[in-house]
Amino acid sequence: MMAAGYLSLAVVLAVTLNHANRWLRAAGTAVVALGLAMIVLSILLADFDGTFAARTDAAAPLDRIKPFVLNAQALVAGAAVPFLLWAAWKQMRRTASAPPLRNGAARFGLLSRYAHWITATLMLCSLPMGLFLSVLPGGSPERADFLAAHQSMGLTLVIVVVLRIAVLLTTPAPGLPQALQPWERRVARTLHGLLYGLIVAFPVSGLLMSAYQGEDVWFYGWHLPQVVTPDVNRVATWAAMHGWLLPALFYAAILAHVGAVIKRHFADERFQDVRRMIT
Ligand code: HEM
Ligand code: HEM
Repeated sequence: MMAAGYLSLAVVLAVTLNHANRWLRAAGTAVVALGLAMIVLSILLADFDGTFAARTDAAAPLDRIKPFVLNAQALVAGAAVPFLLWAAWKQMRRTASAPPLRNGAARFGLLSRYAHWITATLMLCSLPMGLFLSVLPGGSPERADFLAAHQSMGLTLVIVVVLRIAVLLTTPAPGLPQALQPWERRVARTLHGLLYGLIVAFPVSGLLMSAYQGEDVWFYGWHLPQVVTPDVNRVATWAAMHGWLLPALFYAAILAHVGAVIKRHFADERFQDVRRMIT
């Protein structure tokens, strides 16, 4: 089953990327590169097999840019592949010890790290998957398969984020690195809050969109009961939220989040900072 496959991948990555064994860390990093390469290939395939071409006439103006958005995502994913292969090579040559389960004063513990990387994997896979399924013809079996997986992965995120916040309540996050400027701290805190908000807002808006539409909602093979009475007049609001507002916010937030990690690592050369969340 597709969703179970993505969830297994997310768990394997979370564990290997934070493992003391350098071969496992390197293998995990190489698997991320392979996964991204497969996403790139499937988007390129959709470019050439007529999936996009089949829909342009019917689509509304805003919808026409979806193939471009998907190809832009493929470009970013493609650019990350050689970088990750290089990172896998570096991991192979670097020894490290695993952090304890709980958060410490200077770095995140394993529980927070696992939750972060499961979330990151599922979020970054759900985004292109949602876009892709929305260009498939309504009622096709392929769309139904992708939708069921997309729904299951999204609802899993709600569970993971609740567990993650429970971990934070019992063992608080390490304080931000001392070297950060006051404005950098403010930006980091705001950004983390926004990211947590988005992890919840995506599945909630998606669930309401599906439910008002009267579509089936699946969670790993379980058919969930209706959460609201279907009402097609309310679909547009939640669709605009799920398909436009939230993705726009997410692209901005993730660009800033990953951009900040890259800047601190490569420009500021503060190599320990990224190790707060990845071993
Ligand atoms: C894929 C590339 C990503 C990298 C390299 C990355 C890296 C990091 C690092 C190094 C931290 C620790 C910050 C600190 O030192 O305090 C962090 C925290 C965080 N990341 Fe990411 N991240 C990525 C993706 C994501 C995604 C996709 C999301 C959300 C959807 C996300 C949400 C968060 C949140 C909410 C925190 C704050 C954790 C807390 O304080 O509880 N990250 N990330
Ligand atoms: C983190 C979780 C999620 C992310 C990042 C996400 C993201 C997306 C994106 C970017 C699209 C494309 C929208 C468009 O351009 O029209 C989409 C479509 C869709 N999503 Fe989600 N989604 C998530 C969770 C969910 C959940 C939990 C559900 C339902 C229970 C859901 C239901 C849908 C539906 C029905 C569509 C297709 C709409 C169409 O056919 O036009 N999503 N999603």
